[in-house]
Amino acid sequence: MTTQTPQIIHDRNELLQGPAPKCIETLRNFPIEKVFSYPDGYYGSVLVPELAKRYGVAPQQVIISYGAENLLETVFKWLRDDDCVLTQQHHYRFYTFALKHLGIPLHTFAMREEGHDFVFDVDDCIAQYKKHKPRLLLLTSPNNPTGNVLALEDFKRILAAVEPHTLVIMDEAYWGFDHTYNEQIMLDLLHQTPNLVLARTFSKYYGLAGLRMGYALCGTNVVNMLKYQPPFLGFCRVAEAVALAALGEGDYYAGTAQQVIDERGRMVEALKGLAHVHPYNSRANMILVKLTPEADAAMTEALPTFPVVTIRKDHGLYWRISVGTKDVNDAIVAFLKTLG
Ligand SMILES: Cc1ncc(COP(=O)(O)O)c(C=O)c1O
Repeated sequence: MTTQTPQIIHDRNELLQGPAPKCIETLRNFPIEKVFSYPDGYYGSVLVPELAKRYGVAPQQVIISYGAENLLETVFKWLRDDDCVLTQQHHYRFYTFALKHLGIPLHTFAMREEGHDFVFDVDDCIAQYKKHKPRLLLLTSPNNPTGNVLALEDFKRILAAVEPHTLVIMDEAYWGFDHTYNEQIMLDLLHQTPNLVLARTFSKYYGLAGLRMGYALCGTNVVNMLKYQPPFLGFCRVAEAVALAALGEGDYYAGTAQQVIDERGRMVEALKGLAHVHPYNSRANMILVKLTPEADAAMTEALPTFPVVTIRKDHGLYWRISVGTKDVNDAIVAFLKTLG
């Protein structure tokens, strides 16, 4: 009898290099007495003051959550039945999934394909905003699954059109893989925009997806708007300690992000010449590709045989590849080449 080796699934844009060694060390040496005692209230959090200091905001403007998913869910649950949400046409499927479950309408604005790039249609964003008057405007940059970013000038144009009672979330889950990102300007915008949230995660850049740790930097009115209350008994002490260790490992993460950026460029270039695969430029740690119907069928059939899976179907003929380590990237590029 043959036993099948289970597939290793890494198709959700995890960082395959893994977290900094200091994070593992922190986890291994975590004091047991801290596991069986509560943290000293929320403001006993070790992570919140560090994030506040790092980004120049008050601790009250930092919300930590069990992944960015948990933050988004908190916001979605705050919406009332007659509210609606506006986001971009191609979006992280959790938005649709969670809002559908809550019965909250989700409207979208258009995106365009321009050669090897996806582009947000900012005019349509503003038009749809005026039409639907959403309570929540949910933008994602770099975007999942398309990998494109919202230019700063476009973001400013959108913010100028939005009314103060609309909450604006900029989902920056893929922050850190884009060398053109200007963090200081985003923080300045945060200071100027009381209804803005920058949502981030330790899952991608910091390689800690299983830790389920996210955070939001909030404009001055957000906590008030959401009537947000930090957890009464505090947050997971282990997760906080590991996340805190990650924040101190800037050199390690600058190195892993650079590897992702280099690999991403190499993969897109290797795929660009193929007739049956159309890759899109990306500023995240994933690449979207569009296959011909024949290549799509062949990929669907072959996928269950892959030992390591870094590609998943997004919609239609579009597939999303998580950029991993060189060996797994080489394997998926080589396989895609055979589909022609
Ligand atoms: C755009 C976007 N936002 C948020 C998340 C949630 O990340 P996490 O809950 O792991 O922090 C993801 C995960 O893939 C994502 O792609």
